[in-house]
Amino acid sequence: MKILFCFILFLIGGHCANILIVYETARRSHQIWIGELAEALIEKGHNVTMGGSFSRAIDPSNQYHPITFEGIFLTHYKINKTRHLQASVLENLYLNYEYNYAICNRTYQSKGFNFLWNYPENFKFDLILMDLTFGPCLYPLSQKFGSPTVGFTPSGLSPYLLEAFGNNHAIFELHMDQSFFSRLTNFLLTKFEIFFKKTWERTTLEYLASNALNATFDFKKLENSISYLLVNEHPLLNIPRPLAPNIIPVGGLHIKKTEPLPGILGSIIENAHQGLIFFSLGTDIQQNIFSKETKKAFAKAFMRLHQKTVIWKDNADEHPYGEGVSNILMHKWMPQGDLLGHRHAVLLITTGGSMSVQEAIFQGVPVVGIPIYGEQHGNVQFIVDNKLGLKLDYDNLTEENIFETLDRVLKNPIYKENMEALSRKFRDQPQNPLQKALYWIEYSLRHNSTNFLNPRSRYTCPWIDHPADVQLFLFFVFLLSLTIIVLRILWCNNGSRNDKKKKE
Ligand SMILES: *[C@@H]1O[C@H](CO)[C@@H](O)[C@H](O)[C@H]1NC(C)=O
Ligand SMILES: *[C@@H]1O[C@H](CO)[C@@H](O)[C@H](O)[C@H]1NC(C)=O
Ligand SMILES: *[C@@H]1O[C@H](CO)[C@@H](O)[C@H](O)[C@H]1NC(C)=O
Ligand SMILES: *[C@@H]1O[C@H](CO)[C@@H](O)[C@H](O)[C@H]1NC(C)=O
Ligand SMILES: *[C@@H]1O[C@H](CO)[C@@H](O)[C@H](O)[C@H]1NC(C)=O
Ligand SMILES: *[C@@H]1O[C@H](CO)[C@@H](O)[C@H](O)[C@H]1NC(C)=O
Repeated sequence: MKILFCFILFLIGGHCANILIVYETARRSHQIWIGELAEALIEKGHNVTMGGSFSRAIDPSNQYHPITFEGIFLTHYKINKTRHLQASVLENLYLNYEYNYAICNRTYQSKGFNFLWNYPENFKFDLILMDLTFGPCLYPLSQKFGSPTVGFTPSGLSPYLLEAFGNNHAIFELHMDQSFFSRLTNFLLTKFEIFFKKTWERTTLEYLASNALNATFDFKKLENSISYLLVNEHPLLNIPRPLAPNIIPVGGLHIKKTEPLPGILGSIIENAHQGLIFFSLGTDIQQNIFSKETKKAFAKAFMRLHQKTVIWKDNADEHPYGEGVSNILMHKWMPQGDLLGHRHAVLLITTGGSMSVQEAIFQGVPVVGIPIYGEQHGNVQFIVDNKLGLKLDYDNLTEENIFETLDRVLKNPIYKENMEALSRKFRDQPQNPLQKALYWIEYSLRHNSTNFLNPRSRYTCPWIDHPADVQLFLFFVFLLSLTIIVLRILWCNNGSRNDKKKKE
């Protein structure tokens, strides 16, 4: 069947490619995004091999070959997230480095990675799709297979990735206010982050790889040979910024058509005529970052709302409000997309992970955000700036504060209206994001090189792309002219005074 399909595809000029997808993330939300991409490639007839911590989420078949990088989950959960929460920007940079290092070390030790690493010498993949979110850990696979490599990230763009693809104009944090002091701090921190990752982090990981895999690598060179980057962004979901054609935004790629919910959950939601609130802290953060008191404050605030049905996703086994509160349904896992897609959904309470915010925008549901780390702060700021919802401070979660914030979003129709308008715009695209990603992946299979997408700044030194030398030169010319003019005036004044003296 598959062979026949491949043959037909071959006749019309396509081809069934042998594709390797690799990722090192243990984040469940990222895996959902990657899984959607893998399934779409399988559907198009490609032979997909996926290496990662949770590759078995899709059933193996003669077209899908999962390889598990085991032990990554455990490493991920052992990392103390509370430290990240309390750390300063610079401390966080170092903590992230420690995290990336631990995950990468674990990856190289895993049987799964080594299975892939020991593939026969002459084995070829037509294309490697590589997760670049956490750094250069997987570059050795590009070298081993010598295959064209396309990068992707289910996150937003980090300054490091932007610079690695030559998008030097776009690297700064966009949500900051534009006062001189903010821009100065922003400039210094961003440049330092890139410098740290380019020098210390990349070199250390390169050294780790050489030791673990007994081979020599040039990570900078491997990085430069990655064709282009697929990224989970979209101008309607993030603040727009200038991107060169080698960064292809496919934000919201993971969003599926909603399905009606089955069973008891379905009937609860069907009956939630006063509105349904979904409270989820995403898939990555265990809710034990909230104390018992805070959870109780949430439960009490929910009780006071007119919208009485609350679906609460929590890993804990214990109901914060004790037994007998039937309108708050708690469970460890909920189909978020389907819940938000229901006509009764009126509010999402989230930490502001990109994928949750994108789903809320797609479904037109207002958001209350409690940002904890990383991109969540920017995402929630986007929500607040565009009047799509409000923010709750993690440090200020009292019953009163929670109730007031929720009540404001629920009572004021502006948030719903703005969300719905944004949703209509977001859905109106020439190509849905998944099709766009597939198009570009198959494009690079059809054509030998996509080098024309790269701006020159990816390979030249920053002086040339961002002509600081020219600007400095012009500034000196200006200074020089100014000095000459001033001297002339002074000299002329002196001269005429002297003339006057002479006449007298
Ligand atoms: C499909 O991928 C598997 C696993 O990597 C590999 O063993 C097999 O040779 C591939 N099949 C084709 C037709 O490329
Ligand atoms: C995590 O880090 C915080 C802050 O540094 C500390 O108070 C806490 O004890 C740590 N937890 C564990 C389990 O190590
Ligand atoms: C890498 O992981 C191995 C096994 O988990 C451990 O023994 C080793 O100490 C780690 N290496 C470094 C440099 O942390
Ligand atoms: C490392 O590679 C070298 C040459 O490629 C080889 O001679 C040596 O035996 C390898 N060492 C190990 C521990 O595999
Ligand atoms: C906590 O929230 C309340 C109500 O919104 C506000 O008045 C107060 O200033 C906040 N406190 C802090 C420390 O942010
Ligand atoms: C692609 O490159 C390979 C080797 O570099 C060459 O054999 C092949 O003809 C090229 N194909 C196209 C379509 O240019």
